[in-house]
Amino acid sequence: MRSQTDNLGSKPQPRGVFHRSKKFWIILSVILIAIAIGLGVGLGVGLTQGSDSDSDSNPPSTTLVPTPNTTETYWQPKAGETWQIVLLNALKNTSLNVSVYDIDLFDNPTSTIDTLHAQNKKVICYFSAGSYEPNRPDSSQFTATDKGSELDGWPGEYWLQTDSSNVRQIMTSRLQLAKSKGCDGVDPDNVDGYDNENGLGLTTYSSVDYLGFLADNAHSLNLSIGLKNGGAIVDSVIQVMQWEVNEQCAQYNECPLFESFIEANKPVFQIEYPSGAPNVDASAKRSSCGNSSEQDFSTILKNMDLDEWLEEC
Ligand SMILES: *[C@@H]1O[C@H](CO)[C@@H](O)[C@H](O)[C@H]1NC(C)=O
Ligand SMILES: *[C@@H]1O[C@H](CO)[C@@H](O)[C@H](O)[C@H]1NC(C)=O
Ligand SMILES: *[C@@H]1O[C@H](CO)[C@@H](O)[C@H](O)[C@H]1NC(C)=O
Ligand SMILES: *[C@@H]1O[C@H](CO)[C@@H](O)[C@H](O)[C@H]1NC(C)=O
Ligand SMILES: *[C@@H]1O[C@H](CO)[C@@H](O)[C@H](O)[C@H]1NC(C)=O
Repeated sequence: MRSQTDNLGSKPQPRGVFHRSKKFWIILSVILIAIAIGLGVGLGVGLTQGSDSDSDSNPPSTTLVPTPNTTETYWQPKAGETWQIVLLNALKNTSLNVSVYDIDLFDNPTSTIDTLHAQNKKVICYFSAGSYEPNRPDSSQFTATDKGSELDGWPGEYWLQTDSSNVRQIMTSRLQLAKSKGCDGVDPDNVDGYDNENGLGLTTYSSVDYLGFLADNAHSLNLSIGLKNGGAIVDSVIQVMQWEVNEQCAQYNECPLFESFIEANKPVFQIEYPSGAPNVDASAKRSSCGNSSEQDFSTILKNMDLDEWLEEC
C-alpha cells in the first residue's frame, strides 16, 4: 500500500504505442464498425467525441504547462539530491547524512519535520492520492462510488475515481494537512491507475488531468510535488513536477523514461529493491545501482517494507 502496486507480482504492462492489448484491438474494431455502419463516410468530425472511451494506453492529449507566477517560492530541488524514504512507520532515525527525507504524511508528527528542518533537510510528505487505504484518519470520507478494483497485492486497498469531486476534496484536505505540518513537498502515490486493472476506466488522460489538479493545489500552498512512477506520462506532466520518485527502473530497464527529469535538472529519486535485502551482495548491488550515479539519478537500495534500512549506491 505504501509503495506501488504494479511491480510487486508481475512485470508492468509494456507501455509503448505498439504494445496495444487484445482488448484495445477488439474495442477499436467495434468502434470502427459502428462508425462505418452508423455514420457512413465523410463524417470525420464525429470521431472526436468517442476518443475518451478507448484504450487505456492512449497518449494524453494535453501537456501541463505551469501558470507563470513570479511570486512562487516553493522548493525546487536539483538533480542528484541524496535522500531516504521511510513509509512503514513513523520515522525514528532523523540523522542520516542525506538532504531529503520522504516520510508518511499521516504517521509523522510535526515535531519530526521540525527536527529534520533544524538540520537543513527538506521533507517530502507521502500520501496515496490514487487509492483508498482503510486505516487513514479520513478513510470514512470516501464513498462506494469513489472506489474501483482492489489493488493487486494490497488487500483492502482500492483504486480511486480521480475525477470524483469528493476524492479531490479529500486530497485538497491532505495537501492542507501537509502544509500545516510544514512539509516542503508532497509525494502523491498511485497516480498511474491507467497502468493497472483499476475497474474505473482510468486512462493516461485521467492521470495527467489529476496531476494538474494536484500540482495547482500543492503549488498554491507553496508545496512542491513530484511524479510517482508514471513513465508513460513524464512528458505531459514534467513541467509542473519538481521531481520523479521511481521504483525499480533499473530492474525493469525503464530508467531512460525518466531521463528528461535529469535533463531539466530535477531529481529522479530512484528506489531499487535488491533481492536478499538487507543482505545485498556486490553483484546484486551492481545490478541495482547500474550507472545511476554517473547519470545523476538519486538511487537507493531499500527493502519492500520501506523501513529504515537503506544502502546508498
Ligand atoms: C541513525 O543512522 C546513522 C547512519 O546510519 C547511524 O550512524 C546512527 O547510529 C543511527 N541512529 C540511531 C539512533 O539509530
Ligand atoms: C555528508 O554528505 C556530504 C555529501 O553528500 C559530504 O560532503 C559530507 O562530508 C557528509 N558529512 C558527513 C559527516 O559524513
Ligand atoms: C515556500 O517554501 C520554501 C521551502 O519549502 C521556503 O523557503 C519559502 O520561504 C516558502 N515561501 C513562502 C511564501 O512561504
Ligand atoms: C501566485 O502564487 C502564490 C503563492 O503560491 C499564490 O498565493 C497566488 O495566488 C498566485 N497568483 C496567481 C496570479 O496565480
Ligand atoms: C548508463 O546507462 C544509460 C542507459 O540507461 C546508457 O545510455 C549510458 O551509456 C550508460 N553510461 C555508461 C557510462 O555506462
